[in-house]
Formats: sequence, structure tokens, C-alpha cells
Amino acid sequence: MAGNDEKRLTIHICVGSSCYVRGSDQVAARLEQLIEQAGLADVVEVVGAFCMEQCSMGVTIRIGDTVMDGITVDDIPRFFSEEVLPRLHGANGATHVGR
Ligand code: FES
Repeated sequence: MAGNDEKRLTIHICVGSSCYVRGSDQVAARLEQLIEQAGLADVVEVVGAFCMEQCSMGVTIRIGDTVMDGITVDDIPRFFSEEVLPRLHGANGATHVGR
């Protein structure tokens, strides 16, 4: 297939007080590291988000229609390969986790 089939993707990481205390800044940093290592910094962005009302579950991430909670730094490699990369390659992956 010719051309660039990648599209811009925004990942929202909760930076509300509960998620922040649980390490949302470290989760974001790890995710940004993987994005950069994969050469995807031009097509994927990580942004802070307000509380998603999943506070008791830990760090909450929203990507498209999918909301995941209880995310730790150790979960990020799996999140990257299962939730980020497939979306960049056209997979239709609107799943709901932890909601
Ligand atoms: S502080 Fe993150 S979901 Fe509420």
C-alpha cells in the first residue's frame, strides 16, 4: 500500500488529583517514551485530561471511545502494543475496559 496510512491519535491521561497521586505523570512519561522510540511522535499525542470519574481505580486513560483504569507504568508496553499500534493501522478497536 502506497502512502502514509497513519493517522493522528490522541491519548488522554487523567491528571486529576487521584490519578496524579497514583502516578499518572509517570504513566504519561513512559508512554511518550515508547511513542518516541517507535518514531510515532508525529502521529500520536499524549495529553492530560480532567477527572474521568474512575478515581478509585487508579490512573485512567482514554483513547478514542475506550476508557481504561487502573493503569500502571508496567501496563504501558502492553497498552501501547494492544491499544495504540492497532489504531494506527486502521483496526477498529472501540472496546470498553473497566467501565
Ligand atoms: S482523578 Fe483520574 S479519574 Fe478521577
